[in-house]
Formats: sequence, structure tokens, C-alpha cells
Amino acid sequence: MSNKIVLLPGDGIGAEVIYAAKDVLEAISKKFDLEFEFSSYDIGGIAIDKHNSPLPVETIDACKKSDAVLLGAVGGPKWDNNPSDLRPERGLLGIRKALDLYANLRPVKGFKKLLAASPLKEDIINGSDLLIVRELTGGLYFGQPSERRDNGNAVVDTLAYTKKEMERIVDKAFQSAQLRHKHLTSVDKANVLESSKLWREIVEEKKNEYPDVTVEHVLVDAAAMKLITNPTQFDVIVTENMFGDILSDEASVLTGSLGMLPSASLAENGIGLYEPAHGSAPDIAGKGIANPIAMILSAAMMLRYSFDKNEEASAIDKAVEDVLNQGYHTADLQNENGTLVNTKEMTELIVKAIES
Ligand SMILES: NC(=O)c1ccc[n+]([C@@H]2O[C@H](COP(=O)([O-])OP(=O)(O)OC[C@H]3O[C@@H](n4cnc5c(N)ncnc54)[C@H](O)[C@@H]3O)[C@@H](O)[C@H]2O)c1
Repeated sequence: MSNKIVLLPGDGIGAEVIYAAKDVLEAISKKFDLEFEFSSYDIGGIAIDKHNSPLPVETIDACKKSDAVLLGAVGGPKWDNNPSDLRPERGLLGIRKALDLYANLRPVKGFKKLLAASPLKEDIINGSDLLIVRELTGGLYFGQPSERRDNGNAVVDTLAYTKKEMERIVDKAFQSAQLRHKHLTSVDKANVLESSKLWREIVEEKKNEYPDVTVEHVLVDAAAMKLITNPTQFDVIVTENMFGDILSDEASVLTGSLGMLPSASLAENGIGLYEPAHGSAPDIAGKGIANPIAMILSAAMMLRYSFDKNEEASAIDKAVEDVLNQGYHTADLQNENGTLVNTKEMTELIVKAIES
């Protein structure tokens, strides 16, 4: 059976990296006898230019009918002064909402050859390999509309969650841990917040359903500290929306380059949207020098989480690691003794490593 994948290249380097990921998936298709059916739709600035909307209806329809969506990036200076409904990022928020993507998964891995690019000492980052599972559609960012009271001298933001919203993200985190090293760190602020107390109760209840996964609870302030003092202690971290927002950005600097960070956002019905953590990089767009690895690793996540193809996903992860270990790097990655390659060359090297 063919797996239907919608490609949303978007703007800037989005198109350059998304077609690199497609080449890699085609290599996987040949090697493992998997069928993919690709189609491309517009989102972001290019969609504004062509359809006068950052998220045309046909893009939403195609994504809803697909098995998975790969997204490049949106945005650029050309649209920076547009009115708010004609801003490229509206497309991104719109598609996340339309697909009801409640779980955001961001792996962060310290690749051996790139440790020098990290702002942390090599011996701290060496061996780190963690996954942050963040709740994406509840909590403080989606509570009752924020209010200013008392002539602007007081403010109210509301942190609201249902039990069901917490249970589904906790389940997703346990299942993700089962695919990895089977250790889950649940991050909350249960010494202060009622929402965190319920969160902790749910994790405690759920752990009986996943006896192969070990669990620990860490307060968010301690987690922030441990992420930079001892990142290797983590396997999967699960947390609510705002804590996850902050911790995932903190964790993203561990690897030293935005060009290396994939992400997945998942819906309950199985559709997932996979995208690099970086933006459209207008400063290097069109030069053919973008690092395609974040996008390629996002495609690997798609195989793992949407298609249950763990072996195929691992083949991509391994190919990337092998190519980096051979000393090849794109311009964003420092590697003094390595070989500098462009987007196309890096993609071909990864394809070759898969084929070998
Ligand atoms: N998910 C998204 O689509 C997304 C996310 C962040 C920013 N943006 C948009 O992207 C545009 C640029 O934003 P920004 O400059 O703050 O962030 P950015 O991530 O696009 O770029 C930040 C820096 O990292 C570099 N970089 C990023 N990805 C790279 C890659 N794959 N290879 C090599 N270098 C890479 C860029 O050249 C730039 O110097 C803005 O319009 C912003 O709104 C979109």
C-alpha cells in the first residue's frame, strides 16, 4: 500500500531542504520496498503570493487526506510588513490547528563529530540523546482569553487542561520511550500548581500500563538546570505546553546548530506533521548551501511515528551519522579538519550511505 505524503516546501530554504528529504525517502523506498506517493502544496509566503492566503483550502484538504505531511519552513522579509492575516506564520499555526496536532516531539542529539560546535563543554554534551515531548494545544497559551483588569494594573492568564488532554500526551511519551531507551522524565511544578499535581497523578497512574519504562518526576526549574549540567541523564522528557516551549529551546542549543534539529507534531488520528526546527533562513536561501539534515531527520521521524517503520527510520539516522563521522559538513557546522559540502552533495552522500 502506498503512503501518501504531502510536501509543503514553503519559503526560503524550505524547498531546498524538503526535496533533499524526498530524495532520501526515495532511496529508502527502493531499499526497503516501501511505496510513497508525493504531492506538493503551497503554504506561507509563496501561498500568499499565489493564492492571497497563507494557507489555501486545497492545502488543508490535501493534508487532511494524507498519511503524513513534511513541511520546509515559512516566512521571509518580503512578507514582514503584511497585515496579520496575510503573514506566512499564519499558515503554520493554521495547519497545526486544522490537523489538531497535540503532541510536539523534538529529539536533540549530540553528534560526536559536531561536539565542538556546542556552547557546552564536550565532555558534558558527549553521549546526549534525548527527546522532548511537549503538549501543544492546551495550557497557558490556550486558556480563557488573557485579561487586563483594574485599569491595566492587573493581568490574568489562565492555565487550563482537561484530564484527557494530559492523558493522551503522557501516553504518547510512554510510547516514545518504549521506542528508545525506556526512561521517562516527567517535568512539572507539582510543588505549586494544581495542574502539575494532576499531571503527576496521571503519570503515576499510567506507568502501570508501561511496566518496561522507568519514570522519574523532576520540577521544571531543576530540569532546566540539569539539561545543561548533565544532559546525558535524559532519554524522554514529557511536559506541558509552556514548560516544553522553554525547555525545548534550551535543549536546542546543545547540538550547536539549528540545521540539525528535526521535529514531529502528531494528531490523535495518526496524521503527523514533520518539520525542521529552523526557519526559512532568508540569508542563505537560493545559495544551495543549507544544511538538509534537520529536514532529513524529520523524514526519519515520519517513518517512525506515522508509518511505524523503525528499521527504515534508523537507516536514515545511521546514514546521517556515518556521513558526519566521515568528516563531511555543511557551512553551518564547524569542523576544521572536515570536508565542506553543499546541500546537494550532503544529500547525495546520505543517499549513498543508505544504499550501501
Ligand atoms: N517553522 C518555521 O517555518 C519557522 C521557524 C522559525 C522562523 N521562521 C521564519 O523564518 C524567517 C527567518 O527567521 P530566523 O532568521 O529568525 O531563523 P532561521 O532559523 O531561519 O535562521 C537563523 C540562522 O540559522 C541559519 N540556519 C537556519 N537553518 C539553517 C540550515 N538548515 N542550514 C544552515 N543554516 C541555517 C540561518 O542562515 C540564520 O543565520 C523568518 O521569517 C521567521 O519568521 C519560520
